[in-house]
Amino acid sequence: MAWSLRQVIEARQADQYRLHGQYLNTSLARVQGIIGFDKIYTRGEGAYLWDADGTRYLDLLAGFSVFNLGRAHPTVKQAMQDLLSLDRPNLIKMDCPLLAGLLAEELSKRMPGGLDAVFFANSGADAVDTALKFARASTRRPRIIYLEHAFHGLTLGTLGINGGEEFRKGFEPLVPGCDAVPMNDVDALEKQLRAGDVAAFIVEPIQGKGVYIPAATYLPEAQRLCRKHGTLFICDEVQMGMGRTGRFLCCEHWGLEPDIVTLSKSLGGGYVPVSATITRRKIHDATFSRLERCQVHSTTFGQNELAMAAGLASLHVLDEEHLVERSATMGEKLLKGLTALQERYEMIADVRGRGLLVGIEFKAPRSLALRAAWTAAEAAQKGLFAQFVVMSLMRDHHMLTQVAGPGVNIIKFLPPLIIGEEEVTAIITAIDQVMAEATEVRGRVWAQGLELVKHALSR
Ligand SMILES: Cc1ncc(COP(=O)(O)O)c(C=O)c1O
Repeated sequence: MAWSLRQVIEARQADQYRLHGQYLNTSLARVQGIIGFDKIYTRGEGAYLWDADGTRYLDLLAGFSVFNLGRAHPTVKQAMQDLLSLDRPNLIKMDCPLLAGLLAEELSKRMPGGLDAVFFANSGADAVDTALKFARASTRRPRIIYLEHAFHGLTLGTLGINGGEEFRKGFEPLVPGCDAVPMNDVDALEKQLRAGDVAAFIVEPIQGKGVYIPAATYLPEAQRLCRKHGTLFICDEVQMGMGRTGRFLCCEHWGLEPDIVTLSKSLGGGYVPVSATITRRKIHDATFSRLERCQVHSTTFGQNELAMAAGLASLHVLDEEHLVERSATMGEKLLKGLTALQERYEMIADVRGRGLLVGIEFKAPRSLALRAAWTAAEAAQKGLFAQFVVMSLMRDHHMLTQVAGPGVNIIKFLPPLIIGEEEVTAIITAIDQVMAEATEVRGRVWAQGLELVKHALSR
């Protein structure tokens, strides 16, 4: 009998969590069960997912920003199908493939400061690793400065510039020559740059973990200092690029002109892993400095046709459907609606974001009974209240969200950029209801939370 993927999926769908528990990340599979995220999703389209029972879920994670265009976008899907049916010769390696050239041309058009040289890889961390190598090769300096709380990936190279102790611990020694500075502290940055040995200062223009937005003058001043001290300024746009914050690149909010930009996630249209490191010709060519060094940095799947086609189709859709503008207008509405809730619920400490990146930070309540519950939760695990909210949004509102990083009481929304008024209203209503319930110490938010605390304590 002919092998059929469709039949394999139908026959084995119910085994997915067991298989992960047995062969993949057992801890992760267990966590999904504990927090009530162990759904069997069978379909994804636009901003929604459906499970095996036909229940619909609003996807406010968008695969960590992979699905800015929504799932199964017809234009990208068609490009994938066209490419397969064309039987194009892929990955010949000893040639210069057309689609990579076209995508590089399209990306270059969208870059500030005339960045015109592109390197394609497979993941965000790949792109960042490339940026760091380019910076070292071009400046011939060893050190890299990054921001506290930064997240640039989890490969051994990018861990050296990861601002989260919980990610670094256990994997040392990391790449030497990397030092963190606090966001908004210009003096701390200049102190590092003045040494004259810093190849690059790398930032996420808005930090994904925690949704931390820099002060208005910080990034322009940081860029100016980098220029003054001969240090390259890298904007890691892996999560914030591709329209997420209401501009094609997040760094456009401050009119920045970085020396290197990294992109990934939605560039693959939700179908194919792909990333790009975009820089100036001179910086790029410092790595490929002689003919015999023309492959000194490369990755096997870097310019594969599926990824390039997905990239071309995705950029086309972003423009055609005005998704960057939509991200700005819908994001503003969402931010406004959630900010209004802050006045009514004392546990909402802050609502912040740009475009369709929105974070809500929680703080301890004043009322004695609630405070005791909060303190018990915090003692069991830092940031647990935010997890209770995430669990309630899933259970009662069928919304997929996440805590914005380890140990923080912040939740984060990264919906597809195609959402409209209906989804914005649904999110605001859901948060309103969850927060109203959270003011009742005997309500379900705390009850389910206490179950989670029991699990945390029994580990
Ligand atoms: C800003 C940033 N850089 C790099 C990465 C790493 O990307 P990847 O997981 O594709 O390696 C991420 C992932 O979330 C990210 O948000």
